[in-house]
Amino acid sequence: VGAAVADGKRPIVLCGLMGAGKSTVARLLAERLGRPLVDLDAEIEAVAGSGVAEIFASAGEEAFRAYERDALRAALARPDAPVVDAGGGAVLGGEARAALHERALVAWLDVPSDVAWERLAEGGRVRPLAADPARLAAIDAERREGYAAVADAILPTAAAAPDALAAAIALAVWTREGIAAGAGELLGGRRAVLVADSAVARRVAGSFVARIEVSGGEEAKSVAGAERLWRELAAAELERGGVVVVAGGGTVTDVGGLCAATFRRGVAWIAVPSTLVGQVDAAIGGKTAINVAAKNDVGAFWLPEAVLCDPALLATLPARERAAGFAEIVKTALLAGGPLWDLVRRGDPGDAALAGLVQRCAGYKALVVAQDPQERSLRAVLNLGHTIGHGVEAAAGYGGLLHGEAVAIGLVAALRLSERLAGLAGGTADEVEALLTGAGLPVAAPGIEPGAVLAAMRHDKKRVGGEPRFVLLEAVGAPLAGQRVPDELVRAAVAAATGSSSRRASA
Ligand SMILES: NC(=O)c1ccc[n+]([C@@H]2O[C@H](COP(=O)([O-])OP(=O)(O)OC[C@H]3O[C@@H](n4cnc5c(N)ncnc54)[C@H](O)[C@@H]3O)[C@@H](O)[C@H]2O)c1
Ligand SMILES: [Zn+2]
Repeated sequence: VGAAVADGKRPIVLCGLMGAGKSTVARLLAERLGRPLVDLDAEIEAVAGSGVAEIFASAGEEAFRAYERDALRAALARPDAPVVDAGGGAVLGGEARAALHERALVAWLDVPSDVAWERLAEGGRVRPLAADPARLAAIDAERREGYAAVADAILPTAAAAPDALAAAIALAVWTREGIAAGAGELLGGRRAVLVADSAVARRVAGSFVARIEVSGGEEAKSVAGAERLWRELAAAELERGGVVVVAGGGTVTDVGGLCAATFRRGVAWIAVPSTLVGQVDAAIGGKTAINVAAKNDVGAFWLPEAVLCDPALLATLPARERAAGFAEIVKTALLAGGPLWDLVRRGDPGDAALAGLVQRCAGYKALVVAQDPQERSLRAVLNLGHTIGHGVEAAAGYGGLLHGEAVAIGLVAALRLSERLAGLAGGTADEVEALLTGAGLPVAAPGIEPGAVLAAMRHDKKRVGGEPRFVLLEAVGAPLAGQRVPDELVRAAVAAATGSSSRRASA
């Protein structure tokens, strides 16, 4: 590829509607990454010798777009991989898209047009194209498809501060068809070792001094599994300045990430998640772990340099694993609300549209993690459906239910509790139950002993003073973490989740 990526870095281009916060986020991101900042409008004004509004007024939109094309081309050709605030329209159109795909990574700051309008009005900022809210909404509707087509990451910006957005983009979670084959580009000449699930090892490209294959699955997350990787990293003579590329499902990125965190007191790593669970959840956020006396009880927070989500890898994923990933997608959509929920409530979209869902889920998780990297508060919302879910998973015996299947069961239970206790609109739990069932997921686990589920919940990491805590929803998009639920309602919910009473018993 070109000179701009010779050191393993590409320009990062921010796009989105005016009012999305691009200029502030771009400045903060450039500071955070220690990269130069390019403001495309400022470049255009410097070349044209007049302001954007004047160019529009005197020379017209066509002339402005020509300036814009030149400025974008110049920014992408810079060898110092700048952060580029691309304005509203520069990334649209086939020519720009091809150039961006070839040379850059693009993050779309997605903002609802009414929120954008409020911000513009508040700031008293005049935009030549958006004179009133209806016009701005029309521009938004016109451009969304173009932004989606060019985006390698989508960040929901309505409720996030600029600094959180910059931190989330800095986590470098990129979703792009074929990106696994380009993983080698990020190595920048460093000594690198590949640790990969055998299911995908041959689909990750790069020049590696060693390629270590792992059989994915919970057994990989063991002391023996970690010891083998440590010894192989030592045999490959990996040094502190080296990098480990870890490709696979959550089990492989968990153990591979833990080994990266600990080998020579920490070497850089790049995650290439190859399951749906991995792409929307497990590989994002730097939690790494193996299982010793209990699941995930030995681990470290160790952020990967980049998370490369390649939808093409999912083509070979077994249907049951894919459905399990869809449960986490539904969870994420319930937490995020907005366009993600609008997409997800239509059901599993099939392979062609899956990338868009992955991108939005990954963006949401990155944003939550960026605001609470050590899981002290906000990050707890990600446990929606996981209190009863983990209980059911443990009671079924690991291997009995996939994690995502247990989450599906836990989600329905948490939504019924939310309708009852938190003001969630009636009918939401029924809708989600139908959605999960339609994707081939269980929503109850008949035959599992409710007492065993309750016992497992008492040992859950999320308990406080021996009491389980729940994430409940006030509304779709409005989670409440750390909620207490009266004992008798917990028991009824578990009875419904294990099919040992009518599910209506808890409603
Ligand atoms: N660190 C975190 O924040 C976090 C979050 C959620 C889950 N997790 C962990 O993730 C693990 C579950 O991850 P998972 O669901 O990805 O399971 P997994 O890693 O076991 O993968 C599932 C199966 O799919 C196979 N596979 C992987 N990629 C494939 C592909 N592209 N094509 C065909 N087969 C493929 C694997 O070999 C395995 O058999 C659990 O251990 C869980 O604790 C971690
Ligand atoms: Zn989960």
